[in-house]
Amino acid sequence: MMIDQASAWFLPLLALKDCQDKADRRQNRRMTTSDTYRTPSIDADVPQPDIGSKRFSGERFYSPEFMAKEWGQLWRRTWNMGPRLEEFSAVGDFVIHNLGQESFIFVMTQENLVQAFYNVCQHRGKRIVCNQRTGNVRFFQCGFHAWSWNIDGSIKGVPDQQTYPQFRNGLPQDELALSDIRVDTWGGWVWFNIDGDAEPLLQYLDVLPNHIAPYRMEDMRTFVNATFLWDCNWKIAVDAFNESYHFRGIHPEMMKWSNADAKLEILGKHSRMINEYGAPSKPHRETREISERMAAYMRYFGLDPQTYEGPAKEVRIEKQKINRQQVADGLARHLPYNDMTDEQLSDVYHYFYFPGAAQNIFPEGVNTFRYRPHETDPNKCYYDLIMMGHFPPDQEPPKVEHVYFDHKVQYVDLLDPTLEVASFILQQDADNVPEVQQGVQSEGYKGMVLGDQEIRVRHFHNMIDHYLEGCES
Ligand SMILES: [Fe+2]
Repeated sequence: MMIDQASAWFLPLLALKDCQDKADRRQNRRMTTSDTYRTPSIDADVPQPDIGSKRFSGERFYSPEFMAKEWGQLWRRTWNMGPRLEEFSAVGDFVIHNLGQESFIFVMTQENLVQAFYNVCQHRGKRIVCNQRTGNVRFFQCGFHAWSWNIDGSIKGVPDQQTYPQFRNGLPQDELALSDIRVDTWGGWVWFNIDGDAEPLLQYLDVLPNHIAPYRMEDMRTFVNATFLWDCNWKIAVDAFNESYHFRGIHPEMMKWSNADAKLEILGKHSRMINEYGAPSKPHRETREISERMAAYMRYFGLDPQTYEGPAKEVRIEKQKINRQQVADGLARHLPYNDMTDEQLSDVYHYFYFPGAAQNIFPEGVNTFRYRPHETDPNKCYYDLIMMGHFPPDQEPPKVEHVYFDHKVQYVDLLDPTLEVASFILQQDADNVPEVQQGVQSEGYKGMVLGDQEIRVRHFHNMIDHYLEGCES
């Protein structure tokens, strides 16, 4: 199946309609004063902190007991990325979002306000909304006995109410209201935390909102929204994207157009890395060869590989020059090039939001990878791929249908041909993770050994252990 997507990244900014989005955007403006604020780079000369050297046993990736502990101590107490705000435009619009064993209804209850409730009937416990991810309703009705709720979660009606002696004096609102969870917004996303006493979202996200504000993620619009059932634990999926050490093994072609020697930084619970794009890795660093994938990348940002005569490692400089020239010529005004450093124009800033989301961030758009635990099986997870871009004010973003795949797919059949480079890389990562899941369950596996290039992976597992021990900060 082909997923519609924007015809190009380089399109002007979409005018916003959503008030909540606008408020969100203003908040970011205040935080960053984007006229002067620049996302900090990473000083590669600053030594990494010593966060240990122990091996992590394979058990954490397949044990049902470990999975149960994660649910109770981790997922219930962290801020998690939910739907995009752009999915709500009218009162009554709802999105169903599942996490582990739970299903939640996110609904616009009034203009400017999205709330979230457990998707469970307070009568006999059936899921209220089934087999439908989005829609618009005036009220929710359970399909079992037709009990109904207003969109603000209050009880609306119980058929044959008089047959319940408990309700003789009216329907008890507190008792029958849908259970709600805490939500907040940042970056054009609705975030949620099952623990009502958790620290505020912006405090939890630490410096990430400041770092990412210049990209104006809240103004981007989604053009791919897909979920894949993967045959691996959710942490195997997280780990597969949080280091570049695997380039030479899984993505050998990437070595000729991207620098695997990433700059790494731990940011509180979270972390980030920066990889040069348009610059090869060692041992190809000094080559003048323009590989097939490098040529595809050059075409993507408007540089003709046929006429380019410089060394491969200076392709990234050419992208910076092209983008600066676009600004000087008054082109690409929808893109935040003016708020970017040279490095941001060419290189990928990869941020990991503990515990369940990561983003490859570019001035033109953001690729989000969200990792959700399976409801019952530690050997499976849900991997969401959400691709967003800046669109011009005169171009309506595509209407995006969420698609779900419970079987192995070929990304080239899935994504637009202009996303050839991304399709190729994502395929390699997707094919890899089930083989890791099989291996970590082996009696012969002695546990995960991690080096300096994998410090983000180590930090992630340290953080999980920290939460599982009952600590949060
Ligand atoms: Fe990869």
